[in-house]
Order: sequence, then C-alpha cells, then structure tokens
Amino acid sequence: MKTIDFYQEVSQLLRNHTSVRKYKQKDIPFETLKDLLSSAQHAASSNFVQAYSVIAVTDEAKQKEIGILSNNQPQINSAPILLLFCADMKRLEHACRKKKADIEQQTTENFIVSVIDTALFAQNFVIAAESSGYGICFIGGVRNNPEEISKIVGLPDKTFPLFGMTIGVPDEQHLVKPRLPVEAILHENQYDEKKYERIIGEYDQTISEYYQKRLTNNKNSDWSETMSTFLSEKRREHMKAFLIDRGFLLE
Ligand SMILES: Cc1cc2nc3c(=O)[nH]c(=O)nc-3n(C[C@H](O)[C@H](O)[C@H](O)COP(=O)(O)O)c2cc1C
Repeated sequence: MKTIDFYQEVSQLLRNHTSVRKYKQKDIPFETLKDLLSSAQHAASSNFVQAYSVIAVTDEAKQKEIGILSNNQPQINSAPILLLFCADMKRLEHACRKKKADIEQQTTENFIVSVIDTALFAQNFVIAAESSGYGICFIGGVRNNPEEISKIVGLPDKTFPLFGMTIGVPDEQHLVKPRLPVEAILHENQYDEKKYERIIGEYDQTISEYYQKRLTNNKNSDWSETMSTFLSEKRREHMKAFLIDRGFLLE
C-alpha cells in the first residue's frame, strides 16, 4: 500500500539523521533555500503566531565573525550558508500596532510560544533539507555571545537568536547515534521512573560501544558520564539578562 511505503521512506530518513560538520565546497542556490524554508513554514504554529525569523548569513566575513563568537566550530566556516533561527515577536508587534493594540509579549508564556514555534519550524526545515540530500548541524553555540551576534545581523528588540544551523552538501558520513530505547521516553498513563536504573544501565553500554566504534571523536565514556559532565556546571548564565534586555521579561 502506498501509505505504508511512504511511511517507510520517511521513517528511514528520520532514522538516518546525523549532524554534519564538514561540507563540500558547493553553494546552495538561494531559490532552493527559499523553497526549503517555505516547506518548513507549514509546521504547526501556536495560535498561528509564526513567531520566528531566519537570517541567512551568506556574507563570508559575517559568517566568520559569528563562527568565532560561537566557539570556533569548524562546520561554520565549511558551510556555504549559516542560518540563524530567531524567536521573533517583532512582526507581531507591527501587526498589533496596525490594529492600535498593545502587545503583551513580555510574558513567560509568550517566550515559550516563540521558542516552540521556532524549534518546530527549524526541525521541519531539517527534514526538508535532509530529504533533498543536504546535511545540517544545529549551532547552540550562537548563545555563547548572543548580544554581539544580534548586533552583527541587526536583530531588533523582541527577537533573539535561538540557535544557528549550518547547511550544505555533506562531505562526511557518520554512524547514526543510537537514541534511548522508546520505553525510556514512553510512559503509559502514569510517569514511571522506577525503570530508569535498568534502562540507563543498558543504554550506557550501547553508547559506550558507539563512542568506541565511531569514526571521529572516539572516547571511553558513556551517556551518563557525558550527561553528568555536561550538567554539573552552569552554562550561559548571561541568557536571562540577555532575554530581558531584548524585551522578553519572562513575567
Ligand atoms: C539546539 C541544538 C544545539 C546544538 N548545538 C550544537 C553546536 O553548537 N555544535 C555542534 O557541533 N552540535 C550541536 N548540536 C548537535 C548535537 O550535538 C547533536 O544533534 C546530538 O549530539 C545528536 O547527534 P546527531 O544529530 O548526529 O544525531 C546541537 C543540537 C541542537 C538540537
């Protein structure tokens, strides 16, 4: 049946995702980029606010500067385009002004809405891009220096860069990173944390084998160890003050 075949294809695409950090020296036609973004825009949107914007950074000097401010990640210089996915309440302010209405955008709820909208849109873009043969890598590193990066691309208040994304024709192929088993993330009717000890034990073994087998950045570690290193220090503590400065008061 056609629908089953289609699901198998989509499922395979989703299961084959790996972040790509090295790209071929090939441009992406701007028309192609626009088409992918236009497909991505059909993601669901909370109350239809469409609270996001994308800055396509094609200027080499700007890309380089943003790369440095994002931790010197080599994929940023290797990619033909760097996209900045921004949560954006500015356009909504314009729409409200047209109707002579004040915008109550400073709430935590509206902050969450704009972040969800941007993330759904971005992940839709990933699917569109990967199904067209491109590779991508999200760049959370743009939040290392969000103020400076906002200035470089002229972001107004009521917007902020949520994450970047490199896109290009892949010049590397990785093993797929095994995800947690579905029983870890699925709870039926009632949240169950009793199962975690067993599941995390098994998953640590899986990830430890993956870390040793993969072609780049091999290491002797497992998931719990990586997570505990990552989560045992406070990171990007400037974010709250930055958001407030941008007009997201989290009230
Ligand atoms: C919001 C977000 C930010 C990320 N930031 C970075 C980043 O700054 N640099 C990087 O190399 N990878 C980044 N990643 C990629 C993750 O490390 C990667 O998705 C994760 O390890 C799973 O690997 P996979 O995408 O290859 O399956 C980010 C992913 C997300 C969703």
